[in-house]
Amino acid sequence: MRRIKWGIIGTGNIARAFAEGLAGVPEAELYAVASRTPDKAEDFAKRFGFGRAYGSYDELFSDSSVDVLYIATPMASHYDICISALENGRNVFCEKSVTLNAAQLRDILALAAEKKLFFCEAMWMKCRPAYLKMKDWISSGRIGDIRCIKADFSNFVPYDENSRLFRADCGGGALLDVTVYPLTLIHDLLGDPDEIQSAAHIGHDGVDLSNSLILRYKNGTFASVDSGMEMPLRNNAVISGTDGVIVFGDCFFCSDNVSLYDRELRLIERYDHPARVNGYEYEIEEVHRCLSSGMTESPLIPHSATLRVMEMMDGLRREWGMRFPQEMTD
Ligand SMILES: NC(=O)c1ccc[n+]([C@@H]2O[C@H](COP(=O)([O-])OP(=O)(O)OC[C@H]3O[C@@H](n4cnc5c(N)ncnc54)[C@H](OP(=O)(O)O)[C@@H]3O)[C@@H](O)[C@H]2O)c1
Repeated sequence: MRRIKWGIIGTGNIARAFAEGLAGVPEAELYAVASRTPDKAEDFAKRFGFGRAYGSYDELFSDSSVDVLYIATPMASHYDICISALENGRNVFCEKSVTLNAAQLRDILALAAEKKLFFCEAMWMKCRPAYLKMKDWISSGRIGDIRCIKADFSNFVPYDENSRLFRADCGGGALLDVTVYPLTLIHDLLGDPDEIQSAAHIGHDGVDLSNSLILRYKNGTFASVDSGMEMPLRNNAVISGTDGVIVFGDCFFCSDNVSLYDRELRLIERYDHPARVNGYEYEIEEVHRCLSSGMTESPLIPHSATLRVMEMMDGLRREWGMRFPQEMTD
């Protein structure tokens, strides 16, 4: 069996979790890691067992032996990194939110198409077994027609002016960091809304600390989202239909289980699928499936859906008057 050679760009929090995920997937080779700091690359490679450590991202971009690059850097850096990686002929799996805005994503998708390379947002939620079971229940009619979705995602994050989460120049704010999950779930199940109403609390750093959304559909269906980083919420998702209800308990975006209830809210079925490694193995296996069969796009995380969610987030930021410094031309 030929293993897929992975390269990781960046050595922060999610890079560490992803490396642990990779180590638990036998078909994955921990090929190389790149950091802006040579010592950090060396330490990371030693700790997780990567074969090579590069002291600059450019060195990994130009290594033609790598099969796919996982981009684990702050949002604001994704555009330049993805463009450089694709220009060098690399397949790319990039963390959420994939770019600062839809215009950046369109450029990336055009380049990936021109180069016939794989490109995908690392939306791990969509690859998890409990999420796929939920979709299966919906498509087989177990809850009838969806009338309402409620999904929340907020944690209390202590203020730190240096954190990427609070820095506008890093693409900070709750919207791109956490709201992207409930929006992705809602878009996956209901498609494009006909109207979005919203409110946001914009902090003194110019990024949203919390927001609240209502998405309306012409057929009367609606969805609501509360998300943020200045208060804890239960982070659950409830999908209500004419014949039943599906409930993800805490942390719907990374849940190992999901429950199905009937119209009287009696539990009908509970699906449990504890992660084999740490939950990142499923998105890794999805990338392997795509690369092994020559696909340049994952059917689970299609480009069109990633783009629509970015467009919705652009629209929300326009309403809130929230712009990143990279977008300010006047
Ligand atoms: N899927 C998930 O569960 C999940 C969870 C958390 C975060 N994320 C996503 O992963 C990405 C990274 O988040 P994180 O929490 O891992 O961030 P982090 O801990 O701050 O790490 C980011 C890494 O990116 C590199 N980097 C490149 N340019 C940088 C810059 N200008 N400022 C700071 N670091 C820079 C650094 O690595 P070097 O110094 O080694 O170059 C740094 O260690 C974000 O897009 C985030 O949304 C996903």
